[in-house]
Amino acid sequence: WIYNGLKGIPDLENALKEELNIKKVIIVPGNSSENRMVLKDMGKITSKILKELLNPKDIVGITGGNTMAVVAEEAVSDKKTRDITVIPARGGLGKTLNTQSNSIAAKLAEQLGGVYRLLYVPDTLEQEALEIMLKNEEIKESIDMINDMNILVFGIGRADTMAKRRNLSEDKIQDLIYGGAVAEAFGHYFDINGKEIWEYKTIGLSLDKFKNLNNVIGVAGGEEKAQAIIAISTLNKDMTLVTDESAAKKILKIA
Ligand code: BG6
Repeated sequence: WIYNGLKGIPDLENALKEELNIKKVIIVPGNSSENRMVLKDMGKITSKILKELLNPKDIVGITGGNTMAVVAEEAVSDKKTRDITVIPARGGLGKTLNTQSNSIAAKLAEQLGGVYRLLYVPDTLEQEALEIMLKNEEIKESIDMINDMNILVFGIGRADTMAKRRNLSEDKIQDLIYGGAVAEAFGHYFDINGKEIWEYKTIGLSLDKFKNLNNVIGVAGGEEKAQAIIAISTLNKDMTLVTDESAAKKILKIA
């Protein structure tokens, strides 16, 4: 395909990097929401980038979701031991997702030859209960680790899809959509300009912390996530994006 002088993946990567104005863009050919091999390739590349980035004492945060599950699976062990810790970026984000980000963190740590730290926080917590939990020594230690996190690998979702997956009420979902929410990442919902619309209250990574991280790798593909990717890319210019050809072309309005 040739469009506007763009030929092949490297051209597409440059065009998308410029369009989104972020540090780095990597594009896997194909459509990851239709072809699992494409998703797996995204996972492989993400783990390669991550391994190249790692230094002793690093604290790596990871979110849940299908994409992150594949990243952990594809980070095949090189039998090296690394002095790093992997931690879920947020606690309790929806029934299955909570356990998922814990097991994803554990799996990734194992593959990287590092250690992990789990974060057990129930899904629905009243403010008061949240405050009591924050006094728990183990949870406090996890929070300290999240505050010291220096690398984040995270999934990017559509606001509507994630709100449904997290069993938010119909009213809440409508509120979000009318409020312009198109993207969700680590429990925060954003409009296309990256304005925060709502946050699922739980323990973990804050938006401020996210914005100030130098090493953030966002992974998301499929053309349905185009708007979500645009929104999240406005938040942190140091972001590396691993995506697929479908999403890239949709964002660049080639498809
Ligand atoms: C969640 C992350 O676990 O996964 C979100 O916290 C992200 O940041 C979502 O929106 C994406 O999920 P999936 O399954 O599309 O990779």
